[in-house]
Amino acid sequence: MIPREENMMMKLNALFLPVAVCGLLLAGAAMAADPAASCAGCHGPDGNSTDSSMPSIAGASVAYLSGTLNEYKSKQRPCSEVAVLAGEKKGTKTDMCKLVADLSAADIDALAKTFSAKKFVRFKQEIDPALAAKGKTVHDAQCEKCHSEGGSVAEDDAGILAGQPLAYLKTQLADYKSGKRPAPSKMQPKISPLQPADLDALAAYYASLK
Ligand code: HEC
Ligand code: HEC
Repeated sequence: MIPREENMMMKLNALFLPVAVCGLLLAGAAMAADPAASCAGCHGPDGNSTDSSMPSIAGASVAYLSGTLNEYKSKQRPCSEVAVLAGEKKGTKTDMCKLVADLSAADIDALAKTFSAKKFVRFKQEIDPALAAKGKTVHDAQCEKCHSEGGSVAEDDAGILAGQPLAYLKTQLADYKSGKRPAPSKMQPKISPLQPADLDALAAYYASLK
């Protein structure tokens, strides 16, 4: 025979265990429902950056965002280790490759749609107008064909360059030039012949667009 008290505990467990499991499932569902919340810690509110080294991810096309997230997943695109800037995980070091490693194709698609639907807000920064003018000349000759209207048109599926933070633009151009970040096959021949001074001028031009 089971002692009365123990029997009581078993009944209680039988009652509470499903409740506890339900609670865990709900917590899991809540996390899965908004994986985009963690992105704000680095990319700023609604995907608009507040730090010069961090890209804004709002408003780019779904194709560009999912494409580049998949490149992080396959590690084709290099990932730099950075500390989370704000929020609960402030100070924790991680990188984009780790952040997307466990995301499913559906998660990536959902994130791309979420951020694509937000409005891109241009980063406020002081740029040398003479350098920006020099960059515009290079852009108009070499880049405008694919990055139309100064790289401000999401439908080009080539990211958004106009109004990105300067430090981010400089890193990406240097990474394309060195081959660290693989460029589209028709873009590489445009980047390769450029000198560091041209890349600086191009970054200044995109960053200067208000
Ligand atoms: C710890 C900071 C951090 C967090 C959190 C973070 N990112 Fe990033 N992300 C970066 C950095 C830094 C870069 C650019 C440099 C690099 O690629 O290493 C970047 C680049 C990107 C890019 C490429 C932007 C472009 O213009 O090509 C996308 C898209 C992106 N992140 C999406 C996300 C999404 C979606 C989340 C949330 C699931 C997220 N990131 C969370 C730091 C972070
Ligand atoms: C033939 C079309 C083409 C030309 C020409 C071209 N690009 Fe691109 N560019 C692209 C595409 C497509 C992407 C998206 C790449 C990817 O997904 O990796 C891109 C991406 C970029 C990015 C990364 C955007 C981000 O948010 O990280 C930068 C910066 C860039 N291009 C600069 C330039 C510059 C500067 C030139 C001219 C010297 C140029 N591109 C010429 C097609 C082009």
